[in-house]
Order: sequence, then structure tokens, then C-alpha cells
Amino acid sequence: MSILPKDDPIKSVYQVFTPTSPVEMKQLFAGRATQMVKILGILEQPGQHSIIYGDRGVGKTSFSNIVKLMIENSNQVVKVACDSQDTFESLWKKILTRFSVKCTTEKTQIGFNVEDEVKEDRKSLYDLVRLMPMDIDTILKALNVIPDGKVIIDEFDRLEDSQFDKKLFADLVKGISDNLPWFKLIMVGVAEDVATLISGHESIERNLSQVYMPVMASGEIREIITNGAKRLNLSFKEDVIEEIVQLSAGYPHFTHSLCLHSAILAIRIGQSSIDSRFTGYAIRETVESTHESLKSAFMKAKWTTKKTIFKEVLYAASLVKTDEHGFFQANDLTGILNRILGRQVTLATFTNHLKKFCEPERGEILRMAGSPNKRRYKFRNPLMKAFVIINKTKEQNEHKPILDPSSIFE
Ligand SMILES: Nc1ncnc2c1ncn2[C@@H]1O[C@H](COP(=O)(O)OP(=O)(O)OP(=O)(O)O)[C@@H](O)[C@H]1O
Ligand SMILES: [Mg+2]
Repeated sequence: MSILPKDDPIKSVYQVFTPTSPVEMKQLFAGRATQMVKILGILEQPGQHSIIYGDRGVGKTSFSNIVKLMIENSNQVVKVACDSQDTFESLWKKILTRFSVKCTTEKTQIGFNVEDEVKEDRKSLYDLVRLMPMDIDTILKALNVIPDGKVIIDEFDRLEDSQFDKKLFADLVKGISDNLPWFKLIMVGVAEDVATLISGHESIERNLSQVYMPVMASGEIREIITNGAKRLNLSFKEDVIEEIVQLSAGYPHFTHSLCLHSAILAIRIGQSSIDSRFTGYAIRETVESTHESLKSAFMKAKWTTKKTIFKEVLYAASLVKTDEHGFFQANDLTGILNRILGRQVTLATFTNHLKKFCEPERGEILRMAGSPNKRRYKFRNPLMKAFVIINKTKEQNEHKPILDPSSIFE
């Protein structure tokens, strides 16, 4: 059965390509098979909870939405998102409110007859314990009603140490593992390593299995494009797919954005095949619709009044092959920069530029880690990597005429 509205092709495009919202349907979810096998395996181990972590924008929420769909046939699964105001109590109130349980038969007196009236009522777990203090004991008692329930806690990194008692949370996780081995928690958050999410609470490390969400592989990005095109009865030419894969740099947000604008243009001009004439428009629209904070950090970083090579160093940093966590070393840039500048450079030519990129004056576009002799750099907002590449392509296309929706009026 089609999941799309029949008569409104533009609305369909917005449902298939969603640069600003996570995926909610299996049909539109691409890749991530390794991570899916891993998390389903963890859910089969008694007493084990899991933590899904990775950089901003790599697809953690989408993944957890699909995990929910995969397991909710046989389990009651609830999903909540944390915010910076959440306390231990408010988070558990949210969770318990979302679990529902069937409630009892009541005896009712009708006239002189006392009859059994069966009331198929549903209450939330929170209703059952609302008069009790929201502590570990109460929560365990409530969860005992649904001993194989599953909870997905998204945006775990947004909990503030000053508001949220992580120690108490860790004690509760331990209590759940010991008393309710089939009740599972899945925490989801932005982090480079899992230690930053559970810092100081190593006591639960044994009960937590990690699922790292890296940037998407080229094949997975390609799948987003071909899946979406199939749903919309459109086709992307091979060279366009290749270009979108390159421009996305593993970040599905940009894949969705570039596909969205290409597909809208195709529908507006009544064409079902998307060729290289469409990407100029898609790139322009993608840059324009990008978040202001990303745009302004980019402008600050490359800004220059005299002949400097900030722009080129930035571009080289966006092209360099990084480690799994997005880090590179200054030395890795030399070869790329040689090609970009068309001359030989040494480390001394650009190390200072990298340092400057870590300062507010240059938008703190990079951040550094490691000791001075083992210095590593990484884009502060990992999405910037793709944004720099897309901007460069926009610049290179500047002289070319752009096909856009207004061409239907010509
Ligand atoms: N597996 C996937 N298949 C298709 N599209 C995806 C996939 N994963 C993510 N996306 C798309 O990528 C974008 C970012 O996804 P999502 O919001 O899930 O990332 P996130 O890691 O949770 O981001 P944040 O760190 O900001 O919370 C969205 O446009 C989403 O639709
Ligand atoms: Mg998210």
C-alpha cells in the first residue's frame, strides 16, 4: 500500500525527503543493518541496557524510531525526549505517564441490584503511583507491572548535571537490571564516547552495551536517494546520485535536502528523470535553508581581507579523511592543500590557520584535542564538513545558468 497522498506530488516529496525531521517509517529508513543487529542482540540479553551515541545529525533519533517499530509488536515500548530542565522525577514521570495498563472490574449498585460491571479502563503507570514519592523503590514497583517494557530515552545529553541526579539514575539502572532483567532502557545521545554520557557512573558500565552511530557510509546515503526516488516514481541519474553522495559527506540531512529540492524542481517542470542540470538549484536552496548558526560560523571562518589561505585550509579540512570520530591531524592536510593551491606547502604554512579556526574570531569552527605533539582537530559542528563542500560546489557553479522552477513560465 502506498504511504503517500495520491494527488499531491509536492506533499509526497516533503513526506519522503525530510531534511529537518527524523525518519519514522521503515520504508524510508536506509542502512544501519550492523547497528540494528547489535541492538536487537543487546535486547535479548537479560539485565543489559543500551546506549546509542554519536555525533549530532548522524541519524540517532531516526534509528531509535525504527528500533521502536521493530520491537513494539511484542513489547510495550515508550519513547521520551529529555530537556535541560528535566530532573530525575520529571523524567520518570514522563516515562510512567506513557505506559498504560488495563484496569479492574468495579462493583456497581443499580437500583436494588448489585451487579458486576466490567470496566475496560486503561490507566497510566503514573496514575498508579502518583501519591508516592518518585524514588527508586516506587519506580521499580511501577515497572514491575510491565516487566518486559522497553523505554527509549532520546536527547540524553541534554540532561544538566545541576538539575538531573545522574547518580540516582545509575542506581536505578542497576536496580532494574537486578530485579527486572527484561525491562530495558535505551539511552540515545550526542557524544564522542560513551563515557561522556555516563561520566562518573561507571557502576552501571557492566549493565550498558554501547551502539556507536557513525556517519553514514556512501552505500547507505545512496540508498536514501534510491529509496526516496522509487517512492516518488522519480529517477536520479547515476552521476547525480554520485554527486549527492559526495556532497553529503555521510550526513543524511544534506542528502534529504538536496534530494528534496531536486525532486520539487522535477515535479514543477514536469520531468521524472533528475539529471545534472537539477543540482545547481538543489545546492543553492540547500545553502539558503541551512541553519543560521552554521552559516555564520562558516562566514567568520573563511572571512579575509588580504590574500590569505583560510578558505583553502578550510576546504582541505572538509575533504580530509578523518578517523571514525571525525578527527584529523594537521599533517593529513598537506597533500590535499598542495592540490588545492597548486604548489607545495609545509606544515608551518597552515598550522596557525588551524589554531585560529579554534578561536571565536574564526567562529570556533574547529576544536582541538590531544597534547601539542599529538594535536587532532575536528569540526565543532560535524555538519559543517558537508556544508563547506556544498558551498565550494556552489561557488564553482556560479557562472553556470541555474535551472529553477520559474523556468516553467519561460
Ligand atoms: N537511516 C536513515 N535513512 C534515511 N534518512 C535518515 C536516516 N537517518 C537519518 N536520516 C535523516 O537524517 C537527518 C538527521 O536524522 P536524525 O534527526 O535522526 O539525526 P540525530 O542524530 O538524531 O540528530 P541530532 O543529533 O540533531 O538529534 C533527518 O533528516 C533524517 O530524516
Ligand atoms: Mg536526534
